[in-house]
Amino acid sequence: MKKKLNHTQKQRRTLLKGGLLGGAWGLFAGPAGAAQAATPPEIEGPFYPLTPQADQDFDLTQIEGHEASALGEVVTIQGQVLDTEGEAISGATVDIWQANAAGRYRHPHDSNPAPLDPNFQGWAIVQSGGDGGFKFKTVVPGPYPVSKDWTRPPHIHFKVSKGGYEEVVTQMYFPDQRLNAVDRLLQSKSPAEQAMMVARKAGSEGGLRYDIVLKKI
Ligand SMILES: [Fe+2]
Repeated sequence: MKKKLNHTQKQRRTLLKGGLLGGAWGLFAGPAGAAQAATPPEIEGPFYPLTPQADQDFDLTQIEGHEASALGEVVTIQGQVLDTEGEAISGATVDIWQANAAGRYRHPHDSNPAPLDPNFQGWAIVQSGGDGGFKFKTVVPGPYPVSKDWTRPPHIHFKVSKGGYEEVVTQMYFPDQRLNAVDRLLQSKSPAEQAMMVARKAGSEGGLRYDIVLKKI
């Protein structure tokens, strides 16, 4: 519950830094009006953040008050939250968490010996804007070992919710990652589901596009 309180306290700033701007960023042709499947769910995994943090804004590469930025390849991810009729969902809560560029989560249960990055925010919560748009600036997470014969490909965990819709917990994958083809979770999905879970290159400006589709209750 601490996280919820923290979120409420931060909501005003989050709206300013993520949601309202997210609306302005959402200047792309969306698939509004087209019926589509809901985003496939995926396991939450063991590393959902336990400890509230002061900075939950859309920019995971920069912690407020830190001079240095996060290590790793910076990537911008933008998308829309839509319903299965292709209509934009504004005011949805988009909650993401991920490993740092070395493949390490800031979580007490992560036994990966890879180093923590004190300048990597690790998770963020924003609200979708008026057109359902959201945006994150982050670093590409490193792969990390689950067992001696399974290494997770880079991925970002998403939890997206809005009253009147089924919450989805899922994982977003990166295009052109060789580990995608041998990942036990991603490869258990159908080709159509995989297509919804792997972000697309967003075009000449760089960055990635990743939409979330929620089902009405
Ligand atoms: Fe993970």
